[in-house]
Amino acid sequence: MSSFSSIIHFFLLSLPLLSISCLSLSQPPNTKPNPFILPIKKDPSTNLFYTSVGIGTPRKDFNLAIDLAGENLWYDCDTHYNSSSYIPIECGSKKCPDVACIGCNGPFKPGCTNNTCAANTINTLANFIFGGGLGQDFIFISQQKVSGLLSSCIDTDGFPSFTGNDSPLNGLPKITKGIIGLARSNLSLPTQLALKNELPPKFSLCLPSSNKQGFTNLLVGSIGKDPFQELYKFVQTTPLIVNPVSTGAVSVQGVPSIEYFIDVKAIKIDGKVVNLKPSLLSIDNKGNGGTKISTMSPFTELQRSVYKPFIRDFLKKASDRKLKKVESVAPFEACFESTNIENSLPRIDLVLQGGVQWSIYGNNLMVNVKKNVACLGFVDGGTEPRMSFAKASIVIGGHQLEDNLLVFDLNSSKLSFSSSLLVHNASCS
Ligand SMILES: *[C@@H]1O[C@H](CO)[C@@H](O)[C@H](O)[C@H]1NC(C)=O
Ligand SMILES: *[C@@H]1O[C@H](CO)[C@@H](O)[C@H](O)[C@H]1NC(C)=O
Ligand SMILES: *[C@@H]1O[C@H](CO)[C@@H](O)[C@H](O)[C@H]1NC(C)=O
Ligand SMILES: *[C@@H]1O[C@H](CO)[C@@H](O)[C@H](O)[C@H]1NC(C)=O
Ligand SMILES: *[C@@H]1O[C@H](CO)[C@@H](O)[C@H](O)[C@H]1NC(C)=O
Repeated sequence: MSSFSSIIHFFLLSLPLLSISCLSLSQPPNTKPNPFILPIKKDPSTNLFYTSVGIGTPRKDFNLAIDLAGENLWYDCDTHYNSSSYIPIECGSKKCPDVACIGCNGPFKPGCTNNTCAANTINTLANFIFGGGLGQDFIFISQQKVSGLLSSCIDTDGFPSFTGNDSPLNGLPKITKGIIGLARSNLSLPTQLALKNELPPKFSLCLPSSNKQGFTNLLVGSIGKDPFQELYKFVQTTPLIVNPVSTGAVSVQGVPSIEYFIDVKAIKIDGKVVNLKPSLLSIDNKGNGGTKISTMSPFTELQRSVYKPFIRDFLKKASDRKLKKVESVAPFEACFESTNIENSLPRIDLVLQGGVQWSIYGNNLMVNVKKNVACLGFVDGGTEPRMSFAKASIVIGGHQLEDNLLVFDLNSSKLSFSSSLLVHNASCS
């Protein structure tokens, strides 16, 4: 990621040479912008997370699902939407990373423009891969109006077939109209904001376990008032791994994955290592395997050959601890009578590169599925990849991330994580 530092240094060095008229367009050199803070809410019916940003003129607020692996920000510019400040990015222009070009026969509006650079509109829960148009418009983030950010928009009314299960919005919380992508990509919001505002390419994420606690934050930049300041004493650090093979819906040969992987060396249950072939946990030459972090999977998914021994060992430890097993409740397998089990649950540790451990216990481990029944919140990820995605061995999902402070530092390629804050009587909110 050395490109970030060189670009920022170049900008700083060349600042004194800029003309006065140019200077007035940029931030005055001594006033650093406030961090960008986005509130995060949980959607109880999908168990996914979303935030809200304003877009365009007049400003319209969009709820957007949070996708850690999402390449860009995309929103639904449906028939009723228009914005007078929208600027489509022309095909072949410097800002256009794609070779594809789109056009439209209707009257001009976002989602209907000619000679426009195509942009991915990816929702991993949808049944198809969609393309939108790359454009630029005002985006309002925590009371700050930001210009010059690139996003993708797609008119979901534009094609009659975009309804129901075939919609680009399929599987997202009903209240959302798009996705905010946080991946390691040039078009992701943290990357664009950091570059534009001379902030370190770094963001923090702390997912709430329910909306009763209020909301938590997605934070880009770590200067000035940092709402997570109190929590940094709890964090440990592990390298973020780059999977050299592209793993997304649109795989490009020779281009590394933009998803966030960490190197899980072993899984321990109550201190005992689950017996797994080491090759099951590493990334192979097709990009399969490894451990990634996903906010689009509500629960941690283990590929079947990891899942089987894992569940067997967990049930054994649970039985040693005299937990009363009850009938499974799909999609979960290991379910127990839940009265007073908090202090008798086995503990799960992910042993990571650098000798640190990500400990999962209590609320991050179990899901209350009905009265007096709690299930281990891990699911069988099967054996087959979905669509053309490469398949990770472990996908750490939303439930296991709740009330864990995660700091993604893209420059040093490191993840800082807190394990459950609830242990410290702290939470994301
Ligand atoms: C959308 O807004 C633009 C700029 O204000 C205007 O030129 C255009 O006609 C509008 N499009 C529609 C479909 O109303
Ligand atoms: C795009 O170009 C076609 C053909 O020139 C034209 O009919 C159409 O009105 C244009 N659409 C827009 C949105 O400008
Ligand atoms: C991202 O931006 C950098 C610097 O502008 C460029 O070198 C690189 O090719 C871009 N990556 C992609 C995947 O477009
Ligand atoms: C990126 O990291 C390098 C050292 O690893 C540091 O010198 C540089 O200042 C960092 N850049 C940013 C933008 O944080
Ligand atoms: C957390 O709070 C509970 C009840 O308020 C208290 O019993 C416990 O000792 C606290 N734990 C820590 C780690 O501070």
